[in-house]
Amino acid sequence: MKPDHFYCLIVDQRAQHPEPKIQSLPNDRLPDGNVMIEVEYSSLNYKDALACQGNPGVVKSLPHVPGIDAAGVVLESDSPRFRSGSRVIVTGYDLGQGHWGGWSERIRVPADWIVPLPEGLSTREAMILGTAGFTAAQCVLALQRCEIGPEDGEIVVSGATGGVGSLAVRLLAGLGYQVTAVTGKPAQHETLRSVGANRVVGRDEIVDTTNRPMLSAKWAGAVDTVGGGMLTTLLRGAKHGGCVAACGLVAGAELEMSVYPFLLRGITLSGIASADCPYEKRFEIWRLLAAEWKPNDLGTLVTEVNLAQLPAQVEKILAGSVTGRVIVNLKDSSAWIQ
Ligand SMILES: NC(=O)c1ccc[n+]([C@@H]2O[C@H](COP(=O)([O-])OP(=O)(O)OC[C@H]3O[C@@H](n4cnc5c(N)ncnc54)[C@H](OP(=O)(O)O)[C@@H]3O)[C@@H](O)[C@H]2O)c1
Repeated sequence: MKPDHFYCLIVDQRAQHPEPKIQSLPNDRLPDGNVMIEVEYSSLNYKDALACQGNPGVVKSLPHVPGIDAAGVVLESDSPRFRSGSRVIVTGYDLGQGHWGGWSERIRVPADWIVPLPEGLSTREAMILGTAGFTAAQCVLALQRCEIGPEDGEIVVSGATGGVGSLAVRLLAGLGYQVTAVTGKPAQHETLRSVGANRVVGRDEIVDTTNRPMLSAKWAGAVDTVGGGMLTTLLRGAKHGGCVAACGLVAGAELEMSVYPFLLRGITLSGIASADCPYEKRFEIWRLLAAEWKPNDLGTLVTEVNLAQLPAQVEKILAGSVTGRVIVNLKDSSAWIQ
C-alpha cells in the first residue's frame, strides 16, 4: 500500500445487520485535527456496534469509521504537547461518533483528546482496558466518593461478563471488595470466580419484577452496566447509604421506580459519563489503571481480531454474547488484506 494511504473499516449505510467494509483511503480523507496517529490497537465496545448499524444516536453522518478507542504512535503533530514517535491513548470525546474513529490504521484528532500512554501500560493493554476499563474505574471512584469501602459489604456488578462488567469485577476484587457478579451466561460462572467474583448469580435470580418500592436491603453498592429492571432492582435493594453507579442501558433506557430508596435509605444513583470526562480526571484514571489499579490478569478474557474479523464480533456483542474484551490489532493489516 502507498505510504500516504491507510486501511479502515467503514460503514456507509444504516442497517440492522451491518456490513462494514475494509477500504484503503488517502491521508487527506482523515478528519481535521492537530495530531495524526498510527493506530496499533483499538477495541470493540457496545457503542461501536451501534455505530456499525449507523445508529443516529451515535453516528452523525455516513460514511463513518467506528471505534471509540485507539492507542498508537504519533506520526505527525502540530501540537507542542505531542512529538512524533510518542505513544498515546485516545478514548471517548467524539472519537468514533461525530469524528472518524479507531477502526483504522490512522486517525487524526485534536491534541486535547490525547492522553500520553502511562508508564506501566502497553498500547495493547491500554485497549484491553479501553473505554470499558476507563468506565469501570469511574464506577469504582463513584463508590469511593460515597465512602463505600470493602468492609461495608457486597458490591453487585451486572452484565458481569461484558467489557465494562468484567473489568469492574477485576478492579473491585483487586481493591479488596466483596464482589457479586450477575450474569445471563450460566457457562461463565466459573470464569467470573476465577477473575475475582466471590459470588455469581444468574440474571433472572436477581431482577425483581414485583414493583415493590423497596426490597430487603442486601448490598452496599453496585455497578450497573445493564439498566432497566436490573437498575431499579439494584437501587431498591441497596443498604442505607448505598451507591449504584449506572453506566449502561443494554436492557432498557427507562427508570421506572419510586423515590423511596433515595428518601428513606439515602441511596445515591451515580451516573457515569465517560466520553466527556474532564481531562485532569481522565489523566488520573489512566495513571491508576497503569499502576495500583492495574489488574494482574489483564490478558485473560481477551479476544484479539483484525479488521476483517471484526464484523463477526459486532454481531456477537449486539446479541449480548461477547465474554470479556475484544481488541483490534491494526499493526499488520497489510499481511492479511490483499
Ligand atoms: N456511560 C458511559 O460512559 C459508558 C461507557 C461504556 C459503556 N457504556 C454502556 O455500558 C453498557 C455495557 O457496555 P459494554 O461495552 O461492556 O457492553 P458488552 O460487552 O456487550 O456487555 C454488556 C453485558 O450486559 C449483559 N446483557 C446483554 N444484554 C442484556 C439484556 N438484554 N439484559 C440484561 N443484561 C444484558 C451481558 O452480560 P451477562 O451475559 O454477563 O449478563 C453483556 O455481556 C452499554 O450499554 C454501553 O453503552 C456506557
